[in-house]
Amino acid sequence: MAFYVTTPIYYVNAAPHLGHAYSTIAADVMARHMRQRGEDVFFLTGTDEHGEPVALAAEKEGVSPQVLADRNAPRFRDLMPRLNASNDFFIRTTDAEHGAKVQEILTTIRDNGHVYEGTYEGWYCPRCADFKTDAEAGENHTCPIHRIALTREKEDNYFFRLSAFQDDLLRLYDEQPDFVMPRHHYNEARSFVAGGLQDVSLSRATLSWGVTVPWDPGHVFYVWFDALLNYYSALSYARPGEDLTQRFWPAQFHLIGKDILKFHTVFWPAMLMAAKLPLPEHIFVHGFLLMRDDAGEEHKMSKSLGNVLDPFAAIDEFGTDALRYYCMREVSFGHDGSVSAAGFAARYESELANDFGNLASRIIAMVHRYRGGTVPDAAPDAELAAELDAMAGEICALLDRADLSAALDAAWQRVRRLNRFVEEQAPWTLAKDEARAGELDSVLSSLAEGLRVVAVVLHPWLPESTEKLLGALGAPEIALDRARVQPGRLGAVARLDPLFPKPHG
Ligand code: ME8
Ligand code: MG
Repeated sequence: MAFYVTTPIYYVNAAPHLGHAYSTIAADVMARHMRQRGEDVFFLTGTDEHGEPVALAAEKEGVSPQVLADRNAPRFRDLMPRLNASNDFFIRTTDAEHGAKVQEILTTIRDNGHVYEGTYEGWYCPRCADFKTDAEAGENHTCPIHRIALTREKEDNYFFRLSAFQDDLLRLYDEQPDFVMPRHHYNEARSFVAGGLQDVSLSRATLSWGVTVPWDPGHVFYVWFDALLNYYSALSYARPGEDLTQRFWPAQFHLIGKDILKFHTVFWPAMLMAAKLPLPEHIFVHGFLLMRDDAGEEHKMSKSLGNVLDPFAAIDEFGTDALRYYCMREVSFGHDGSVSAAGFAARYESELANDFGNLASRIIAMVHRYRGGTVPDAAPDAELAAELDAMAGEICALLDRADLSAALDAAWQRVRRLNRFVEEQAPWTLAKDEARAGELDSVLSSLAEGLRVVAVVLHPWLPESTEKLLGALGAPEIALDRARVQPGRLGAVARLDPLFPKPHG
C-alpha cells in the first residue's frame, strides 16, 4: 500500500531550531516504520519561502527575499541528513514547478466559481501570515503566538469563498472523526468551523514576493494557498520524468504543529474540495516543545521568543539517535511538553546508556565470556518470547494512529523486561555450575534473540545504533516480520563498542 507522510514546510526567515527538527523526526519515525512493514512510502519535507514572514526578515537583513531564501533553505536541507531523516524529496516553494502547479490549481478553483474580488479589512499578523479574526486576536490586538502588535490591513484582494464550504466541512468532520487527530485538536478544529467561516484573501496586492496570480499579474497568491499546495505539487516533479501523484495522493498523514491547525484543518480541505481533489486521510496535530524561563514559566520554543535549542549542537554532543529518542520520549506526541538540556542529559544517561546500551553490551559480553562468541541454539524462555512477539502488533496499532510516544514506550517496556530477565536469571550464577549449562544456553539464546527483536522494532527511532547492534548480532534485516523470536536465528556475534558512550560535553 502507498503511504505518504509530510511535515510542515518551514519558513526560511531564520535558522532551524529544535521545533522544526521535532516534526521532521516524528514524520521520519512513521516513514521508517511503514517501510519496515513493506509499504510503498513517500516522505516529504521542505521549505516555505514566500510571503511576509520571509520578505520582512529579508528587509531587516538588507537583502532580497531570494537571497535570504537561498541562504537559509540549505540550512534546513542540511538538517535532514543530520537528523538521519529519510525524506524522499525536499521541496522549496521557490521551485518553478511548484509555482506552475499553484497557478494551475488555483486557476481551477477560480474556474469552479470559488474566487471573487473584494476588499479585506481587518487584523493581520505578518509573522503568522494570518488574517486574524477578532476571536483569534490576543489582548490589545496582539498576536497570541508571536506577541507582536497586529497590523490593520485594508486592501483589494481576490477572495476564496471559504464560507461556502462550512456544511461540507462539518459533514467531513462528522463522517471522518479521525480526519483530525488527536481528539482534542479535532474538537478545536470542528468548533472553529461550527463557529462560522469568513471568506479569506487568496491574493495580496501589496506584496510582490510570491507566486504571481496568472489572471492578474499585479497580485501574488497569499502565502498559505501557495504553501499548502506543496503537499500536492511535490508529487508531480519530485522524480524527473515521472508523476507520482496517482501513486501517492491523497496523503495518509500530514503532521503539523498546533500553531497551524486552522490552515490545515479548515483552509486545506476546503481548497481541495474547491479544486475537486481527494482529501488527505489524517491531519495529526502535535503540541509545542516548551522551555522554562528563569522564573520557571513555560513558553513555546520559537525563534521570535529566542528561547530555542539548537539541534545541531545537541547532535554534536549526544548524537542523532539520542536527539530523536529524547524528542519522542520526553513529550507525549499530540501534547505540549517541556524540554531542557538537563532533561536530555538525564535520559541519555539513564535510558539510552543504561537501559539499552548496557543491556546490549552485557548480553554480547556474556555470549563471548560463556560461549566463545556464538549464541547457543537453545529453546528460548517461552514467557519472554511471548511478550516480545506481542510487541510488533501493538506498535503497528499505535503507529496507525501516529501515537509515536506510546509506541516507543511499548518497545521500552521490553527493553526493561530484558534487563529484569538478566537479573532474575543471573547467568553468572548459572555459569558456575556445569550441570546447569543447558539453562545457561537457553538464557543466552533468549537474551540475544530478545535484543535482536527489540532492535528491529526500535529501528525507526534509533536507526544508527540499532543498525550497529544488528550488525554485531549478524542479523541486519529490519523488516518488521523479523520482529519475532526465532530460535536458532543467531550464530556468531561480534564485539560491540558502547552504543551510547559518554557525551562529548
Ligand atoms: O508555520 N514545538 O513555518 P514555521 C513543536 N511555513 N513544533 C514546533 C515548534 C515548537 N516549539 N516550533 C516550530 C510555518 N515547530 C509555515 C508552515 S505548511 C504548509 C507551512 C514546528 O517555520 C511545527 O511543526 O513557523 C510547526 O507547525 C512548524 O514548525 C512551524 O514552522
Ligand atoms: Mg511559525
